[in-house]
Amino acid sequence: MPTKIEKDAITGRETTGHEWDGLKELNTPLPKWWLYVFLATIVFAIGQFVLYPSVPYFTGYFPGVLGYSQRRAVDQAVEQVIAQRKAEMDRIAALSFAQIQADPKLLELALVDGRQAFANNCQPCHGAGGGGRPGYPALAAGAWMWGGTLQEIQQTITYGIRSGDADARNSAMPEFGAGMLTPAQIQQVADYVWASFYGNKDEGAPKDVPKDVAEGAKLFADNCAVCHGAQGQGGREVGAPRLASQVHLYGNSREAIVAQITHPHMGVMPAWHARLDPATIKAVALYVHSLGGGE
Ligand code: HEC
Ligand code: HEC
Repeated sequence: MPTKIEKDAITGRETTGHEWDGLKELNTPLPKWWLYVFLATIVFAIGQFVLYPSVPYFTGYFPGVLGYSQRRAVDQAVEQVIAQRKAEMDRIAALSFAQIQADPKLLELALVDGRQAFANNCQPCHGAGGGGRPGYPALAAGAWMWGGTLQEIQQTITYGIRSGDADARNSAMPEFGAGMLTPAQIQQVADYVWASFYGNKDEGAPKDVPKDVAEGAKLFADNCAVCHGAQGQGGREVGAPRLASQVHLYGNSREAIVAQITHPHMGVMPAWHARLDPATIKAVALYVHSLGGGE
């Protein structure tokens, strides 16, 4: 085909020199901006290709000059979070409760951590929000056996109660049913406790509860007041619960009182110092203290 580049008379443009049956093709090049963008994308693609993972092999892939991988990016992000958390936990471990409470931002972080640790470790026994259930004290209720200050709660969590740990809180209510009191005396003292301390004095009381519980009162003063207090107010040195209360570890019935006097339950709370680090224990103590019963 003959090629003859000439000027088109109508448009004033050059032709490409191609001609088919008298039709001539105008030379209309790509706009410059389009061409440069196109070239730039090629350069960009080559750059990406070299810098980032690209060519697959049979057994792997070319990792790219930067060595980037999404997994590493995630790992780095996680490491960053851990480092940040560690700094906070180090501060919680180092500062006193009063200092933590004086720093609203740190206190908030501690409470978030404490709530999390509580949900993971304590909730199965103590219930959501420390609501408690029979045999497991309601931590939100403020009816503390061993004490409700931050330090006392921290101590309880760290070493436990009858946990077997050398520093655990320990005590035992005597087994009065093993010969110390007769069944009739146990019933008398239980009636006294039930009527006087559990608040069941008046209507609603079963007919067999004697009006006169003087005998039971005497038995209580002789056998029980040493731990539970003369007014049933409880004794924290031995973790003896407050009996003059609406919140009872083993239920509100007369049968529960008789059972406890006869063969006492002795609740066990695990020690946590081997499972939780000191900062987490502090955070949990702050959380428990914040539930409503803190002293
Ligand atoms: C040596 C101290 C001690 C003596 C004495 C003692 N208790 Fe207790 N008592 C305890 C302790 C400790 C508990 C808590 C048991 C637990 O935590 O599992 C308890 C728990 C109880 C409970 C259960 C309270 C609840 O919240 O459910 C009752 C009721 C009770 N005692 C009544 C008596 C009576 C009545 C006597 C006297 C006959 C008596 N106790 C004598 C230490 C004592
Ligand atoms: C295996 C069940 C169990 C787990 C898990 C458990 N506790 Fe306890 N906890 C108990 C029992 C039972 C008692 C009551 C012990 C007694 O009768 O004296 C108790 C008592 C306590 C007390 C003392 C209450 C008082 O009246 O003085 C505190 C505080 C406490 N737990 C906090 C915690 C925290 C915080 C955790 C989680 C780190 C936790 N517990 C995990 C069973 C458990």
